[in-house]
Amino acid sequence: MAIDVAALRAHFPSLTQGFAFFDGPGGTQTPVPVAEAIARTMTGPLSNRGAVSASERNAERAVAEFRAAYADLLGVPASGVVHGRSATQLTYDFSRHLAKDWRAGDEIVLSRLDHDANVRPWLQAAERAGVAVRWIGIDDATTELDLDSYERALSPRTRLVAVTAASNVLGTRPPLRRIADLAHEVGALVHVDGVHYAAHHLVDVPALGADLFVCSPYKFLGPHCGVLAGSPDVLETLAPDKLLPSTDTVPERFEFGTLPYEVLAGATAAVDFLAAMDPGGEGGEGGAGVRDAARPGVSRRERLRRSLGSLHAHENALRARMEEGLRALGDAVTVHSKAADRTPTVLMTLEGRDALEAQAHLAARGVVAPAGSFYAYEVFAALKLPDPSLRVGLAPYNDAEDVDRLIDALSSFLATAV
Ligand SMILES: Cc1ncc(COP(=O)(O)O)c(C=O)c1O
Repeated sequence: MAIDVAALRAHFPSLTQGFAFFDGPGGTQTPVPVAEAIARTMTGPLSNRGAVSASERNAERAVAEFRAAYADLLGVPASGVVHGRSATQLTYDFSRHLAKDWRAGDEIVLSRLDHDANVRPWLQAAERAGVAVRWIGIDDATTELDLDSYERALSPRTRLVAVTAASNVLGTRPPLRRIADLAHEVGALVHVDGVHYAAHHLVDVPALGADLFVCSPYKFLGPHCGVLAGSPDVLETLAPDKLLPSTDTVPERFEFGTLPYEVLAGATAAVDFLAAMDPGGEGGEGGAGVRDAARPGVSRRERLRRSLGSLHAHENALRARMEEGLRALGDAVTVHSKAADRTPTVLMTLEGRDALEAQAHLAARGVVAPAGSFYAYEVFAALKLPDPSLRVGLAPYNDAEDVDRLIDALSSFLATAV
């Protein structure tokens, strides 16, 4: 069943102000149920976690519901879900936890396709530990990872492979399972940056072969925070520095200080919102937008599978419309996203034109599409991409009218005198 985009859009107050948002890869707009969950948690009786008073139980419930929601979203047990302030912070934290066990002469493998959040924390931890860094390159022609360079980078001393599930600028989706299997063959752990990927696909952390996987709810309609999902068995092997009185149980061991209960509640509401986007699912009944929060007998994981399947179909149709519109603008537009397998995110440059001027021209017409390099430092260097470039990415609330406005605004920009 298709997603009813008009019904979906009605849940987003910010969409009533006339903007067409293409900055989803930077962060999405927020639906009312997410904001309400945050407000309800903050203004309801709320104390520190505990079991004695209702206010303590409310905090306890916010944590338990968050873990259950992200267990459903990411395909891991609830005890494998860790909250963090951001994916960057979680990756820094885990780079330090893992590096405690690295020895001089060990090696790690990083990828040129990654956002700097999945590069610099590992690189800096490796430098401190005297660990060598090997790289997976990018194939210039296809903008896909060069798997030959990956196989050459692996060795029996490899302790970690850190790789993205999808590039936040090119959209490229590497063959993660294959990458993870090869890493596991040499005994390395696999840390996956799923920040961009999780906004477009149902995640199954074990099926992807990831030992650790990070994502950021604010990229898929939730509040600003990060989530790490991992196998509880792997988490049990890690011993972060911690306060003496704080618990040593997994996953709390990795969460420092008092948790932001209201943010957890908002992040949970985002998962429920996603699960209700298409109550019928492809080939099912319903499909009337976000109406049906919980259908008896259908698990949330199953509702997420249906909703994200329908979202994928919706975004693919819009991506085709967008790419056709860009092609029709002719040679003036160079699209850098070329991988066979990729998300609906397109990086482009406009021949002889300043991307920041293009961004401003679009913004004046209510079309939000940022220019920059988006922390994809290694990608821009490896492919010698012009910085800034213009990035447009689709989100669940985009519709055909948004895409047509984008193409019209780009066309009028190209028609302006240089
Ligand atoms: C692919 C990717 N990884 C990591 C990050 C960093 O996420 P956070 O802001 O949660 O630290 C981003 C943010 O844009 C991203 O797009």
